[in-house]
Amino acid sequence: MTTSIITLQDHEHAAQAALGEAAWAYFSGGAGDEITLRRNVDAWQRLNLSPRVLQDLGGGHTRCHLLGREWPMPLLVAPMAYQRWAHPEGEFGMALAAAAQGCGMVLSHQTSTPLHDVAALVATDAERGPLWFQLYWLADRGTLRELLAQIEAAGFEALVLTVDAAVHGVRDRERRHGMPLPEGVKAVHWPTSAPQNKPSTGLCAGLADAAPTWADVHWLIGQTRLPVLLKGITHPQDALQALSLGAAGVIVSNHGGRVLDTLPATAELLPRIVQAVRQQHPQALVLVDGGLRRGTDLFKALALGADAALIGRPVLYGLAHAGAHGAAHVLRLMRDEFEATMALTGCAQLQNIGIDRLWSQKPI
Ligand SMILES: Cc1cc2nc3c(=O)[nH]c(=O)nc-3n(C[C@H](O)[C@H](O)[C@H](O)COP(=O)(O)O)c2cc1C
Repeated sequence: MTTSIITLQDHEHAAQAALGEAAWAYFSGGAGDEITLRRNVDAWQRLNLSPRVLQDLGGGHTRCHLLGREWPMPLLVAPMAYQRWAHPEGEFGMALAAAAQGCGMVLSHQTSTPLHDVAALVATDAERGPLWFQLYWLADRGTLRELLAQIEAAGFEALVLTVDAAVHGVRDRERRHGMPLPEGVKAVHWPTSAPQNKPSTGLCAGLADAAPTWADVHWLIGQTRLPVLLKGITHPQDALQALSLGAAGVIVSNHGGRVLDTLPATAELLPRIVQAVRQQHPQALVLVDGGLRRGTDLFKALALGADAALIGRPVLYGLAHAGAHGAAHVLRLMRDEFEATMALTGCAQLQNIGIDRLWSQKPI
C-alpha cells in the first residue's frame, strides 16, 4: 500500500484498479440508475456541523455500552457476501481488520468462509468489537434451526435478519457482467436447495416465495437466545412493529442502494425512525448504514440519534486491494477522522454528540 492512500476514496480507486470488471460491478454497483446509492453519500455530505468551542476534552474516548457489553467504537463492518471474491483473505481478513480496530463485524449469511472459522479467529480477542451474524430467511425451518445452533455455538453475539431483499435487486452493471465467482468461492452456508441469490437465475426465481413475514420474525425471535435486529428498515411503523415483537433493535438501511432504487437516503430516513422508537422503546437499538465515507458522517449519524453505524463498500475496497491491512486502514481512517470530529466539535464522549451539533437553518 502506498502512502498516497489517505482517504476512503483513495481505497476505492485502488480497489477498482485491482479488481476485474465483473467483481468491480458486483461490489460497487447499485440498483437501477444508482440514485439511492449516490443519494446515501450526498445526504451525509449535505448535513453541516455546529461545533462548540472551549469544551473540556479531558478523558475523551469513543466507548459505548450496547447489548450488554462495552464496544470500543460505535462502528461495525456491514454484512457483505462473497468476500473471498474481493481478496483471498476474504472474511478472515475482514474479521482481523475489524478486531484490530475495535470495530464490530457482521458476518453475511452468504459468507465465503465458514462461520466457525471466522468466529474462532477473533472471538477470544478481548479488545474487539461485537461479532454478529446476518441471516436471510430460509423457508425450511429445520435448516434455519440447525444454522441458529451453529451460530450460537460459534460465539456470535447477535443475529441480524435482513428483511429488505425479498428478491434480488435489479443491478444493471452486475447483470451486464454476470457473477463469475472464482473457482472455490461460494456461499458456504447457503443451502443448495434455497433460491440462488444471483442475477443469472432471473429476478424473482422463487426468492419471493421464500420471503419472510412478520409471523416468521416472531418465530425466529422465539427460537434463539441471541438478540435479533432487523436490517433494512426504512419506515417508522415497521421499526415499531419489529420492536413490539421483541426485536432488540433495527438497522435503518436501504441495502446501500443495491435493492430498490429511488429510496431516500438513510440520513434522511433516520430521524423519523429515531423519533418513533425513542418514544415507545427507549431501550431499543437504532443503527444505520449506507453512504458513510468520512468520520464526519459517523458523527452525523450519532448526532441524528443512531446508537452506532455500519460501513459497507469502503472496507471491502480496502480488503480488495490490500487484504486485511487495507480493510484495517479504512477502519483506522474512519476512527481517526471521527475522533478529530469529536474533538473539533467539543465532544469528549459519545453522549456529548447530539442534534445540537448539527447546524440548522432554524434556531434550535
Ligand atoms: C458487495 C456487497 C454485498 C452485500 N451483501 C449483503 C449481505 O449478504 N447481506 C446484507 O444484509 N447486506 C448486504 N449488503 C449490504 C450491506 O450490508 C450494507 O447495507 C451496505 O453496503 C451499506 O452501504 P455502503 O456500502 O454505502 O456503506 C451488501 C453490500 C455490498 C456492497
